[in-house]
Amino acid sequence: MLEKAYREGKAKSIGISNFEGKYMEELETKWEIVPQFIQVEVHPYFTQKELRVTLDKYGIKLMSWYPLGHGDTALMNELVFAGLGKKYGKTPAQVILRWHTQMGFVIIPGSKNAEHIKDNMDIFDFALTDEEMEQIAKLDKNERYYHRTDEQLVQFANWKPEFEK
Ligand SMILES: NC(=O)c1ccc[n+]([C@@H]2O[C@H](COP(=O)([O-])OP(=O)(O)OC[C@H]3O[C@@H](n4cnc5c(N)ncnc54)[C@H](OP(=O)(O)O)[C@@H]3O)[C@@H](O)[C@H]2O)c1
Repeated sequence: MLEKAYREGKAKSIGISNFEGKYMEELETKWEIVPQFIQVEVHPYFTQKELRVTLDKYGIKLMSWYPLGHGDTALMNELVFAGLGKKYGKTPAQVILRWHTQMGFVIIPGSKNAEHIKDNMDIFDFALTDEEMEQIAKLDKNERYYHRTDEQLVQFANWKPEFEK
């Protein structure tokens, strides 16, 4: 359906969510138009190393959901973010979001706090050095926050939003 919309000029690009592992392998055999974006869980504790090899092969951009680890204080309180925040005059959250953008990821941080929303857009006036990026890379534990079963995935895929209501 997305490919049809793209061909008809109704969609400028195709973005899909949560295609990883076996689902990504299956998709690769079926797509006619390569999607521009894939949205998956990504943060410094889980950097999607394996998936990124495939995405790079096709030039697909990665969009990070849970970019701030769903607000996990263990992630936010990592010493490296406090140190870099002090150096650049930024909060740990801003350092994490800057790391995403320098990794080439598109970010969709969630917030209900007006100050945080402003902060989350104010990350383009500083740059982490290669050494600092390497320090952050050391936090990768290949550990997700969200563990989804195949059954849940089928449920999500079949969910139909009721726009008319
Ligand atoms: N495609 C999918 O399957 C999928 C799955 C999950 C999530 N998502 C999407 O991903 C997006 C982000 O998810 P999320 O909001 O759960 O996780 P998140 O962006 O990683 O974390 C949000 C948490 O971080 C806090 N926060 C945000 N900015 C902050 C800042 N500058 N300083 C300190 N704390 C800050 C928020 O608290 P405050 O409200 O107090 O700022 C909230 O507790 C959402 O749009 C969501 O719909 C997609």
